[in-house]
Amino acid sequence: MAEKFMATGTDKDYWASQALPSVLKHKLLGQYIPRFGGMTGSRGRHQVVYLDGYAGEGRYESGDRGSAEIAMQVAAHHLEKNALLWNCFFVEQKPDSVARLDLVAAHYRALGVDARVHHGDVDGVLSEVLQVAEGLPLFLFLDPCGLGLPFDRIVQTLNQRRSTPRRWQPTEFLMNFSMDAVRRLGGNARSARGLERSSERFDEACGGRWWREYFRPDEPAEADVDEIVAAQYAQRLREKTGMFVQSVPVARKPGQKAVYHLVFGTRSEHGLWFLGDAVARARDAWWEGLEIKEEQEDPDTLFSATSVVRPDPHAGGHRRCRARHGRQHGTDTAPAETALQTAQPHTGRVRCLLRTGHRTRRAQSRQAAAQQRPDGQHGRRRENPRTRRAAPSVKTVRRR
Ligand SMILES: C[S@@+](CC[C@H](N)C(=O)[O-])C[C@H]1O[C@@H](n2cnc3c(N)ncnc32)[C@H](O)[C@@H]1O
Repeated sequence: MAEKFMATGTDKDYWASQALPSVLKHKLLGQYIPRFGGMTGSRGRHQVVYLDGYAGEGRYESGDRGSAEIAMQVAAHHLEKNALLWNCFFVEQKPDSVARLDLVAAHYRALGVDARVHHGDVDGVLSEVLQVAEGLPLFLFLDPCGLGLPFDRIVQTLNQRRSTPRRWQPTEFLMNFSMDAVRRLGGNARSARGLERSSERFDEACGGRWWREYFRPDEPAEADVDEIVAAQYAQRLREKTGMFVQSVPVARKPGQKAVYHLVFGTRSEHGLWFLGDAVARARDAWWEGLEIKEEQEDPDTLFSATSVVRPDPHAGGHRRCRARHGRQHGTDTAPAETALQTAQPHTGRVRCLLRTGHRTRRAQSRQAAAQQRPDGQHGRRRENPRTRRAAPSVKTVRRR
């Protein structure tokens, strides 16, 4: 059945807690969309329109915010601080997820946020969104699990929204382009037993049969063929819409293949610049998440593997770090730290990343504290990574 390749749902653990790729995705979204609102919403009617087309549940069982709640929080903040109104549309296909999403939305609606939850297919709601967004800025966040809207539908939407001298309606998008789907459907196309219907559905998603070139049954596929297809997809969007399009690979672990690309589009150079900044921060959150995960899995580790491979985003020279450490950070920025990131100014809020130095000091203080504590445990109690509060000590837990 073709459905095997069309994964549109989420697996049962998806909403338990954020997986690492989602940490990056959500940080990027949470960093970028307030800037979109700030850049575009201060003109005209002080309104923006936002569509989260594959909204999910809004919030994880762990309490972390999903894409929908991130947008609602931004909307609540802008409403209170800047009197800027976000008209938010959240579309979700699964009834259970819609019910949970609606509970989250009810909280924000009580704060005055225009949060409209729709049960159904994103394509069915798009026309209504475009109508509401006439003459207003529009941000589209499209985050399917597998294949999303047909390429032609996306291009037609973006082109119909071009601003004219009398109609200023900036439009931007952030889309999930599934690399898992590229690899699966590429394999399907190369296989003698592959399903033509699945390939046709991918034709729609890509805007033509061009991708099949890379998965000929009679030729061995190149190792990075998935990346070539993702780059081609972004290039075609660029050509068809005339927008700046930037594609950000997102992986589960360092050195692994991307699970998806986040494809961003804007007509504004400022937008592109802000995106670069948001990507740098999102990558930093991803590395942090990886370290926390590693430490949770092995609390007694002295040097996490992550700390060794983590590239130094300040390779270009960070004045505060130079002052603190008496030297400039190394120049080992990994190729994955794209040109976008290297172009980023960075603020003092990003913590200094002379990782091995920090590790050594932490390991030293643990060792010293362990010598002092009668129970032989490490001196500093472990922190809950989300609240940053120390977890209760063994003693406290026993007393309860
Ligand atoms: C990757 S999850 C969304 C995650 C969410 N955007 C977040 O970051 O918190 C994709 C969601 O899209 C929903 N979905 C799948 N096909 C859809 C469609 N055609 N229209 C609307 N929602 C759809 C799925 O049920 C699933 O909840």
